[in-house]
Amino acid sequence: EDIPSLAETYIDYFPMGAAIEPFQTTGLKADLLKKHVNWLVAENVMKPDAIQPSEGNFNWENADQIVEFARKNGMEVRFHTLVWHSQIGDWFFKDSEGKPMVDETDPVKREANKTLLLERLDEHVRTVVGRYKDDIISWDVVNEVIEPGDPDGMRASEWYQITGTDFIETAFRAAREAGGPGIKLYINDYGTDNPVKRDRLYELVKVLLEKGVPIDGVGHQTHIDIHGPTVTSIIDSMQKFSELGLDNLVTELDMSIYSWNDRSDFSDDIPEVVLQKQAERYQELFEAFKEHKDILSGVVFWGIADNHTWLHSFPVNRTNAPLLFDQNLNVKSAFWAVVDPS
Ligand code: XIL
Repeated sequence: EDIPSLAETYIDYFPMGAAIEPFQTTGLKADLLKKHVNWLVAENVMKPDAIQPSEGNFNWENADQIVEFARKNGMEVRFHTLVWHSQIGDWFFKDSEGKPMVDETDPVKREANKTLLLERLDEHVRTVVGRYKDDIISWDVVNEVIEPGDPDGMRASEWYQITGTDFIETAFRAAREAGGPGIKLYINDYGTDNPVKRDRLYELVKVLLEKGVPIDGVGHQTHIDIHGPTVTSIIDSMQKFSELGLDNLVTELDMSIYSWNDRSDFSDDIPEVVLQKQAERYQELFEAFKEHKDILSGVVFWGIADNHTWLHSFPVNRTNAPLLFDQNLNVKSAFWAVVDPS
């Protein structure tokens, strides 16, 4: 085939990855991955509800399938994600009588609940990191904890309402203890280009680092669209975190062909100008990434081809086309813009 490999094209810059489901590890879909990426991420099967659906009941089968596929094909895996407010079993946040911990008003019981929740977290993190520490170097420890609209700029999740920021500390410390100095620990979030959100994240990380919490880097999800945000704002954010001595990763890159609140749907008839605009923006983005490879150590797409992307149903149902390969696994203009930007 005369189509160049994405990962090989970027070999002197940084690894290229894709988030996948286990079913993508077979057939033609798998060949596409083998050719183009050297990192893999589990789109869903390493999230808390998939790994520990009920207390003490760990389910490794699906996660193992991705780790095995990666091992066989000389790829690395990144872990997504030890902690999140979404896709997590309710059981985490229920007290010993089955009552939601957030509803507790008695201060003594609230304190006991906090202790119990942090113990469950500690157990989850140590068990998962213990199992995969020799296979997985790069870990999303916490996901989406910043929310500028919530009190104190911290997402008012059950985690935060019950423990304050202690859950973040516990998760990072437990991960480091279970995984040793060799694994890399990230705090992951979306919209990190937004100055308000970026600065709140910066403040949080700075305070945690001063307390000795072992954070190695920031994961920038980078779910963007063809209109924004600017490439400059994305790079500025990475620069800011690198001044704290932190690494940066692009962890969930995709580029919607719609703006957030545009409710139109091109269906399967996407205008050429839209795909062209997407290609131009991907080109600008990757030119900037290459220029800043000293502060950016990997780029992971949230998917590989437009036949399978969460953006077909988020935030509304509409046919989307955010990736470098189309519905038939063929290269798009965006692919050439990233691979051969001349
Ligand atoms: C998404 C998956 O792609 C979907 O399949 C699932 O239904 C919901 O989660 N930010 C994240 C990812 O950190 O875990 C999300 O993945 C996309 C947004």
